[in-house]
Amino acid sequence: MEKLIIEGPSKLKGTVEISGSKNSSLPILAATALFGEEYTIKNVPRISDVHTMLLLLETLGAEFSFYSNDVHIDTRKISKWEAPYDLVKTMRASVVIWGALLGRFGKAKISLPGGCAIGDRPVDQHLKGFRALGHDTEIVSGYLESFTSNNTGGSYRFEIKTVTGTENLILASIFAKSETVLYNCASEPEVLDLINFLSSLGAKITKTGGTIKIVPVSSLSKQNEPYCVIPDRIEAGTFLALASLPGNDIEITKCAPDDLVSAIEAAESVGSVVKLGDNSISTHPADDLNSISLDTGPYPLFPTDLQAQFMSVLILAGGTSKIVENVFPNRFIHVAELRKLGAKISLDANIASIVGVRGLTRASMQASDLRASASLLIGALSASGRSEIHRVYHLDRGYESIDNKLESLGAKIWRKNE
Ligand code: EPZ
Repeated sequence: MEKLIIEGPSKLKGTVEISGSKNSSLPILAATALFGEEYTIKNVPRISDVHTMLLLLETLGAEFSFYSNDVHIDTRKISKWEAPYDLVKTMRASVVIWGALLGRFGKAKISLPGGCAIGDRPVDQHLKGFRALGHDTEIVSGYLESFTSNNTGGSYRFEIKTVTGTENLILASIFAKSETVLYNCASEPEVLDLINFLSSLGAKITKTGGTIKIVPVSSLSKQNEPYCVIPDRIEAGTFLALASLPGNDIEITKCAPDDLVSAIEAAESVGSVVKLGDNSISTHPADDLNSISLDTGPYPLFPTDLQAQFMSVLILAGGTSKIVENVFPNRFIHVAELRKLGAKISLDANIASIVGVRGLTRASMQASDLRASASLLIGALSASGRSEIHRVYHLDRGYESIDNKLESLGAKIWRKNE
């Protein structure tokens, strides 16, 4: 295992390029299994979750190459419909292969995606949705076994907005016998990117507010041109949090500001002056940060995936800030680690109260999940002295070369074997 060593406090200056979206790449790569063809997907980040998804597809029979950020994948030889436990357990997102296999073969056997650091990751909405659309599903010794009694299409109203639940039901409905209408769907940009990818292959999908309608087709067409994945809004938001800290002067490029409205508003509330370009965000941070209140929620509300990173900003804001985590039941694991730096944070159920402090002091911290790791990194960059972050594989799941990107901004950061 590796750790990161960070010498702080850092004053970061320069331009950072945002990579392609992890949470778009994963469902789009899974979608290539829906119909046996050759596909080229561009702007795919070189992160371990993408490698896991590609390995899963290869296990099912696909062949792929991955050079720079371009994936060429041939799914014509996919013949298996079982996603094995050892791959599914490491990545919740592999659950989205379920809909693609069900759509292609009329059956799928997926290991129950385990829970993870941020809490139990239920799939009851996926289950209820598949059953409503004619796919029988049983849980048999830790596996979800789905088979299509009659891929009739139909309708389903999600009881909670779920990103991969929405993506799974779209994938399973492309080749149904009749129209499918899904209500109360997730509207994250990554869902729209999946819809755009499928539409570019001839799928007939329309989204009006939270309602998605799928008119079935009998097959998908060959790609006219490579598909380019949207920029990663959570990586961009992570650098936006970092750029909101006093003394930093960062320009974020190759991003999609329109996907980050709530995060940009949060940065401005903290005191930053934010200038937007078509694909860039420049931030001039305040010398003294304002305390604010943040509530996480489904898009377009403030993203749960940026909650930990903005907490690492608010621990230095004057006064008392409040963060309410409304999406996941256990997404404050970073709090105990930030307290090691000297942060003053108290928790009451899903509410964090943060009393700002003047400065932070180095600590040795343990990463627990992807976004919590980013929060510790931001905290370490602000703290005086040499901090360590252990189990940095969590960070590598979703951030492409983040230590190199930070080093190019002037951060004193090293990666070492534990
Ligand atoms: C996606 O996860 C993202 N992952 C997550 O990003 C993100 O935090 C999450 O959406 C919310 O925006 C990918 O897209 C690969 P959900 P997903 O189903 O789809 C509950 C990251 O760091 N729920 O939208 O698994 C669930 O427990 C990751 O990049 C049910 O109750 O999340 C949660 O409370 C972390 N039943 C809420 O809905 C279900 O059947 C939202 O979960 C499904 C979900």
